[in-house]
Amino acid sequence: MSEDIYTDYLVIGSGVAGLRAAIEMSKSGNVLVVTKDLPTESSTEYAQGGIAVALSDEDEIGIHYEDTIKAGDGLCNEEAVKILVSEGPERIIELINWGAEFDKEGTKLSFTLEGAHSRKRVLHAHGDSTGREIERVLINKVSTIRNVKKASFTMAIDLIVDENQCYGAFLLKDKEIIRCFAKATLLATGGAGQVYSRTTNPRVITGDGMAMAFRAGAYLKDMEFVQFHPTALFKKDAPQFLLSEAMRGEGAILRNIHGEAFMKHYHSLGELAPRDIVSRAIISEMVKNNSSHVYLDLTHLDEEFLKRRFPTIYNTCLKFNLNIAKDMVPVSPAAHYIMGGIETNNFGETNIKGLFAAGEVACTGVHGANRLASNSLLEGLVFGFRSAKGAIKYVEGFEGFSFKRDIPIKAKIQHIDSLEMVTMKNKLRETMWNKVGVIRCGESLSIAKSIITPFYERFSSSIFLEPLSIEFKNMITVGLLITESAYARKNSVGAHYRTDYKHKLPNWEKHIIIKMKNNGIEIL
Ligand code: FAD
Ligand code: SIN
Repeated sequence: MSEDIYTDYLVIGSGVAGLRAAIEMSKSGNVLVVTKDLPTESSTEYAQGGIAVALSDEDEIGIHYEDTIKAGDGLCNEEAVKILVSEGPERIIELINWGAEFDKEGTKLSFTLEGAHSRKRVLHAHGDSTGREIERVLINKVSTIRNVKKASFTMAIDLIVDENQCYGAFLLKDKEIIRCFAKATLLATGGAGQVYSRTTNPRVITGDGMAMAFRAGAYLKDMEFVQFHPTALFKKDAPQFLLSEAMRGEGAILRNIHGEAFMKHYHSLGELAPRDIVSRAIISEMVKNNSSHVYLDLTHLDEEFLKRRFPTIYNTCLKFNLNIAKDMVPVSPAAHYIMGGIETNNFGETNIKGLFAAGEVACTGVHGANRLASNSLLEGLVFGFRSAKGAIKYVEGFEGFSFKRDIPIKAKIQHIDSLEMVTMKNKLRETMWNKVGVIRCGESLSIAKSIITPFYERFSSSIFLEPLSIEFKNMITVGLLITESAYARKNSVGAHYRTDYKHKLPNWEKHIIIKMKNNGIEIL
C-alpha cells in the first residue's frame, strides 16, 4: 500500500473542463490533476469542428442563446444557457491571450457554420484541430503554475465519501491503490461514448466519473439523452473517425447509396438540421435502402480548399484510400456526446458536499435534450471556471478531514479472465448500439435491460486492480443508467426517440433523475 496524499483540490481528468478548473483553483491552493492516460488523451484533444461563441460582427449573445434553447428541444436550463453564452466570449478571449491561435480571415477571426446555428459562430483552429489547440494552450498554461501538479497514468477508481461528504478519491497507479485526500474534488472525466460499439469517442471515455459518482450517492440526470453524430466514417478496417459537421457547413451533401440527396425531405434546413434529425434521417435512408451507410459528398468542392480547411480529415481519409475531393465518403451515425450526467448547479456543485463536476460528465442542463454543435468545448471552459469558483468557496469553509468512520483501502480485490471480459464488453457495447441507439422502443430497451442487468448484478460491487476491468465495471453501470432512463422516458424528445412514443406526450418537460439505492437504481 502506498502512502496517502493530501491536497487542497483534486481534479480528475485533463480535458478542457479539468484543466480550466485547475488553473482557477491554483489561485487558492494546491491542485493535483490526475488523468488515467497521457495528459492529452481526451475527447477535447480530438474535437474538430470548433468552439461556438458569439463574437462575430453579425452575431449576438441573444441569438446564440435562442439557437441553444431551440436545439435543446424544450429541456434546457435557461439560466445555465444564459451563463454559457454570456460568459463564453470572456473565456475565449482569455484563451487567445494565453496563446490560442484560432484561424483568421485576414486580421479577423474566421467563424464557420454548423447545424442548427443561425449565424456563422464556430471558431476553429488549424482547420479541423480545434480541440488539440485548446488542449495545447491549457496544458502549457498549467505547466507554468507551480502549485498545480499533474499525475498521468493515474486512474481514479472510486470517491472517498463519508456521510455524504467527499474527501478525495482512491487512485490506481502502477497497480497500487493510493488514498488521495482532498478538501474539494472535481470530476472532469468526460462522457461515456465507449459504452457503444459505434462511437467517435477515444478509448479512455468509458463513463468512469458518472459511475463513481453514482456509487457515491450522487444524482444523475437525463442520462437517456445521448447524441449520435450523423457522420462517422463507415469503412471496413478503418476507425470510426469523425467527419466534422463543419464539412456540411462548408457545403458537403448527404446522399443515400443511390446517390440521391435526401436531407431536404426531412427538414427545411437540409444538411444543417439539428443533429438528432440528421442522424434519424440517415438511419431511415439506410433502412429504406437496406444499406449499412450513406455518403458524405464533397466532390463538388475544390481540393485545395478541402486540404486547407480540413487537413486532418483529408489526410486521415487518404490513409484509408479515400480522397474526399474525389470519392464520396461512406458514413453512418455513431454515439458522440451525452447530454445527461451528474446533476450540478451552475457552480459545479453536486448533492454530495465537496464533490464538484464539470464538462461532459456533468449535467447543468445547458444542452437540454440535444446539444447545439460546438457548445461543449465552450461549456468546458465556462463551467470548468465556475466549478473552480464553487470549489474555492467550499474550501474556504472546509472544517477538516474529520471522518466519522475509517476509510479502508479497498480490500477484496477480484479478477476477471481477460478473454471473458472482452466477450462481455463486446456484448454490452453491441447491445447498447442495437437496442439503446438512435431509435429505441420499449421492447428493445427491455431486451437491453435483461442483458445488462445480470452483468451489473455480477460486477457492480467488485473491486478490480486492472484499468480495463475497472472501466468495464463502469461501462456496465453507465450502460444500465442510460437504458433505465430511456425506458422511463415514455416520450420522444430531442435525441431520445422512441418508436412506441413518437411524440411529446404529457409530462415531457420532466427530467429523469436517478440515484443508487441498495446497490440498485432508484428513479426519482
Ligand atoms: P474530456 O476532454 O473527454 O476529458 C476527460 C479526461 O478525463 C481525460 O483526460 C480522461 O483520460 C480522463 N479520465 C476519464 N476517466 C478517468 C479516471 N477514471 N481517472 C482519471 N482520469 C480519467 N465539442 C465541441 O464543442 N466542438 C467540437 O468540434 C467537438 N468535436 C468533437 C470531436 C470528437 C471526435 C469528439 C469525441 C468530441 C467532440 N466534441 C466537440 C465534444 C467535446 O470534445 C467534449 O464534449 C469535450 O471535449 C469534453 O471535455 P471534458 O473536459 O469534459 O472531457
Ligand atoms: C464536429 O466537428 O462535427 C463535432 C462538433 C461537436 O460535436 O460539437
